Amino acid sequence: MKGTRLILMGPPGGGKGTQAKVLQDKYGIVQLSTGDMLRAAVGAGTPVGKEAKAIMEAGKLVSDDIIIRMIADRIDEPDCANGFILDGFPRTVPQAEALDGLLVKKGMTLTCVIEVRVPDSMLVERITGRFSCAKCGAGYHDKFQRPKTEGKCDSCGGVEFTRRKDDNAETVVARLEAYHAQTAPLLPFYEKKGLLRVIDGSAPIDEVTRQLEKATAA
Ligand code: AP5
Repeated sequence: MKGTRLILMGPPGGGKGTQAKVLQDKYGIVQLSTGDMLRAAVGAGTPVGKEAKAIMEAGKLVSDDIIIRMIADRIDEPDCANGFILDGFPRTVPQAEALDGLLVKKGMTLTCVIEVRVPDSMLVERITGRFSCAKCGAGYHDKFQRPKTEGKCDSCGGVEFTRRKDDNAETVVARLEAYHAQTAPLLPFYEKKGLLRVIDGSAPIDEVTRQLEKATAA
């Protein structure tokens, strides 16, 4: 796994973030989530955050320029030298082309691109049940991933939890539309390059991890 450069693709609520965190904890490969970066910018009230806030709440995609700049800066940081897991990026063809250019410049190649495939019918329940620790960000689910001790974060012991503003049934529809219209066309883009592997994201979390490890090693 060390040195792996992975893209996790899949619909909103498909389990990309959950799996990226498992791999990060297990193998020390850094998770690069453009969604987390944007939420941090919104929380800090930066110019990028101010521009992105309403777009994210509407379930639409933030402009390619902002996203590409954010990733280009992040990949330059030393912790990415041992590999990285891209979670939620690229999401459009221009983003994928920009990533190709960035990697060429750095003499890097992608290990593979994993599509975490989940039927749309499962996603609303996944998303509306999601919550996370307000202190450390560890992710949970009302039904599928509860803390071991009720009301207490497994990772840091925090007792406050938050839910994302865009995690509601109406916004999920817009996010899914954006996924099918703008992101799904990247699957053939990576298939043509021989990089695409598909795993069944509808399985339980541990089973998805096993499939992911196998697909990455293949
Ligand atoms: P982002 O934060 O990337 O959201 P997303 O793609 O919609 O994905 P999610 O975080 O909702 O889902 P996930 O696949 O990580 O699922 P998770 O593991 O949490 O983006 C948010 C917004 O930012 C976008 O709408 C856009 O506006 C903007 N943005 C971000 N990147 C951008 C880009 N590149 N370009 C333009 N705009 C961008 O799982 C969900 C829940 O299900 C959890 O509660 C989890 O516990 C549970 N779960 C996970 N796996 C399983 C399983 N196998 N079985 C049962 N439950 C499971």
